[in-house]
Amino acid sequence: MVDWKNPPRLFIPGPVKVDEDVLQQLARPTLGHRGKEYSQLQGETVDMLKEIFFTKQNVFLSTSSASGIWEAAIRNCVADDETVLCTMCGAFSDKWADVVKSCGKKHEELKVEWGQPITAQMIDEKLSAGNYAAITIVYNETSTGVANPVYEISEMMKRKYPDVLVFVDSVSAMVGLPLEFDKLGWDITFASVQKAFAIPPGLAVALVSDRALEKSANVPNRGYYFDFQLWAKSAVKNQTLTTPNVPHIMALNYQCKKLLKEGMENVWARHKKMGEFVRAWAKENFDLFAPEQHASNTLTAVKNTKGIDVAKTIAAIQEKHNTVFGNGYGKLKEQAFRIAHMGDITLDDLKELLGWIDEEIK
Ligand SMILES: Cc1ncc(COP(=O)(O)O)c(C=O)c1O
Repeated sequence: MVDWKNPPRLFIPGPVKVDEDVLQQLARPTLGHRGKEYSQLQGETVDMLKEIFFTKQNVFLSTSSASGIWEAAIRNCVADDETVLCTMCGAFSDKWADVVKSCGKKHEELKVEWGQPITAQMIDEKLSAGNYAAITIVYNETSTGVANPVYEISEMMKRKYPDVLVFVDSVSAMVGLPLEFDKLGWDITFASVQKAFAIPPGLAVALVSDRALEKSANVPNRGYYFDFQLWAKSAVKNQTLTTPNVPHIMALNYQCKKLLKEGMENVWARHKKMGEFVRAWAKENFDLFAPEQHASNTLTAVKNTKGIDVAKTIAAIQEKHNTVFGNGYGKLKEQAFRIAHMGDITLDDLKELLGWIDEEIK
């Protein structure tokens, strides 16, 4: 049984630890979602998100997890006779390709081995040899700890393929890694809030370019719950299409104020520092699963070069310290383990965790 006065400390790559002051936001009295107080809350939150992600375009709040936006991107912005290039470098980018398929759209795969990044050159080669309406990319592959070089990819896309829509899953990147939406020229990007926003699961944030929104008007069978056209009509009134997760939006509003007060450059620098710290420890004791120049600043996948029993080590630390970190994802279960360093996790938290792992593997 969970001791609710002393819940487990989370270092898994989502959901991550949520601080008490943020939790309290979820316990505030609720608001009617068609009333003016709610509209003020949504309007203010969306305006802050625009500042945080450097955009003047559309920001939507979706009462779903991020997987809903995988589907929304495809159903809204890809016509039946168009093809999507799905870049695949780990469990989540692989899954997005499955979603494209299950939405009945055509796709082709650009696949690298798990642990390797997708490069601008690889995408360029594929796009130059085919006719694609859109590409999917995962900014930060949570299964492998690879941060894809999205700034380089975006520069290449803007220069050589300005008509191809760019859909980027930023689930474990948003907030922790640089994301200047308008400068990058992306069409859709999104995250659920249980990652670097440091809020419990239950809400997703989606950024949608004006051209993606315009395109969706002419794509049939968009469905209802994730229809960008209906979302946009509600957003004009600072409302959502259906009943939103109001407590989460209160928490998001609170977190956005904190982020803006800190300044995004500082937020990114704080994540970089945590990334460097965990990587230094990982290299001293094991190795990195991702090539260092592509290793993420929001989570580290540590290659289990010592052949420790990952499941046992995690269980021992949970038993002794009431603290959990992540095993390797899927087929990497015992080959790696993953430590989140995002959101409201601090360097002191990480020092404590790594000290405990040191004791366990001695
Ligand atoms: C990169 C990435 N994409 C998508 C998802 C799915 O997000 P959600 O569980 O919020 O639907 C995850 C979840 O961990 C993820 O890490």
